[in-house]
Amino acid sequence: MGKSESLEEIHREIAECTNGDLYMSRKLTVPGEGPVDARVMFVGEAPGEKEDSEGRPFVGPSGRLFDKLLKKNGIDRAEVFITGVVKCRPPDNRNPQAHEIAACNTYLERQFDVIQPEVICALGSIALKTLLGPKASLNKVRGRPLLRNGITYYALYHPAAVFYRDELMEVLKKDMQGFAAFLQKMGLSRRGLPASAKAAEGFGTPHYAAEGRPFAGQE
Ligand code: URA
Repeated sequence: MGKSESLEEIHREIAECTNGDLYMSRKLTVPGEGPVDARVMFVGEAPGEKEDSEGRPFVGPSGRLFDKLLKKNGIDRAEVFITGVVKCRPPDNRNPQAHEIAACNTYLERQFDVIQPEVICALGSIALKTLLGPKASLNKVRGRPLLRNGITYYALYHPAAVFYRDELMEVLKKDMQGFAAFLQKMGLSRRGLPASAKAAEGFGTPHYAAEGRPFAGQE
């Protein structure tokens, strides 16, 4: 109960937030949604037009693809927490800028603190770099578990990327299938971190990010 109250508090603050400059053009904030005890979190980029109108994440065209992929792979949307690195829509759906991500980052970190997910899945390069550092390359690390500070990260292409690059559809489909298999293999212990670390070891050498040199020595 205490946990969900805290999440509500964070989301109330987001609704009134005037950090950065994106609040000036937003209709609604999109704090994210899902259960407070979700074991898996998806972190996307920024709300689009439909998300901005509805105040909910991934409800536009890329959300429809995302939902389809979740469903096809047996991941229940109602059981995961879905959010983005910024909670307000950037004008014309441009990429959020570094200062906008920084202005919003405290909310994402507080959501992690309250939810304490075992697995955090970054959707797209902006989410990946926000979570693991600017040198993390989506092409190099996507589609496999990455351990850092006792949390398992996993990176996939953002569903919207497929709309610009057809050839990514098959990659995203395959990666989501791999991600679902990984979640299943983990057994998703509610107790969390040791179980996730162990399961990640079963998939080969984890990619610890060396201080200042993310993914040093990894392809
Ligand atoms: N991040 C996204 O990429 N899309 C959303 O709808 C919300 C957050």
